[in-house]
Amino acid sequence: MTNQANQGDLEIDPSLLKAFLNELHSQYKPLREGAVANYIPELAKVNPDLFSICIVTVDGQVYKVGDYEQLFTIQSISKVFAYGLALEDHGLDYVLTRVGVEPTGDAFNAIILDEQSKRPYNPMVNAGAIATTSLIKGSGPTERLNRMLDMFRGYIGRDVFVDILAFTSERSTGHRNRAMAHLMLNFGMIDRNIEEALDLYFQQCAVMVNCQDLAVMAATLANKGVNPITNKQAVDKRYIKDILSVMYTCGMYNFAGEWAYKIGLPAKSGICGGIIAVVPHKMGIGVFSPLLDVRGNSVRGVKVCEELSQRLGLHLFECQGKGENKQSDYKENAENY
Ligand code: DON
Repeated sequence: MTNQANQGDLEIDPSLLKAFLNELHSQYKPLREGAVANYIPELAKVNPDLFSICIVTVDGQVYKVGDYEQLFTIQSISKVFAYGLALEDHGLDYVLTRVGVEPTGDAFNAIILDEQSKRPYNPMVNAGAIATTSLIKGSGPTERLNRMLDMFRGYIGRDVFVDILAFTSERSTGHRNRAMAHLMLNFGMIDRNIEEALDLYFQQCAVMVNCQDLAVMAATLANKGVNPITNKQAVDKRYIKDILSVMYTCGMYNFAGEWAYKIGLPAKSGICGGIIAVVPHKMGIGVFSPLLDVRGNSVRGVKVCEELSQRLGLHLFECQGKGENKQSDYKENAENY
């Protein structure tokens, strides 16, 4: 446990924060709304009861509850980090010529492309993510995969690997993504071998993580690209604002507007049931619960983030001053836990 002076300006008593996470976990554990993803056969096997919440602060304090060691495939949350790697490989100006930053208001797997600007709309939807992954540098598929895995290792702070069953399961059933890649090839939006680009995209989606990893990755983005546990730079800090901006506007797909309005944090979900949310300069939040709503976002994950944001006063545009913000409500409520 740490003292408040080490918590940056979070100003929450660590024992109260731990109690709050426990309370949220008990509150939402009985919730059975939603369904697990089943369009990738391997994912349909997940236990729907799994549920964990983890917070990692920028000074490396870890708060966790539930099944936080359970491994699962990162899925769309990988898109955030692949985008960071593409930015490092090519710089913002070039990447912007290949992938836009416009929210679609459509589902993550919508087959829509911006034919005017000859780009997919943004790097968080599948089409844009496939185009982004096709930009990753390397002399061949093996080097590109190794660079991708090294990038994840930096954010996570330990060795990572691809779940071969999830990868091959998606590779043999990902006809919709394959169709998008062909369309983008047709429009000149991708100029590489699309089978190789798709393989790398399916592999990045099949990287195994746990809930604590998600929080560490989010905290790394909150901490100017430095992993707060290893203190190593995982991504060039000049790209943090670009990554967080696109997470804020596009990370939750056709729920992105309501998410920004109510929760007010850069975030990304995946059909694994994971959500990451970034509180810049303060902390990273990871939630894992595989029951999804119709937009592909974790039902419990959205509810937990909403409560965390409201009761800790984390919304980026929160205007209330210190002492009168939601954290004081939280402290009062926390006394009753
Ligand atoms: O492209 C796909 O279908 C998956 N590998 C990832 C999609 C995903 O996680 C969407 N998120 N809610």
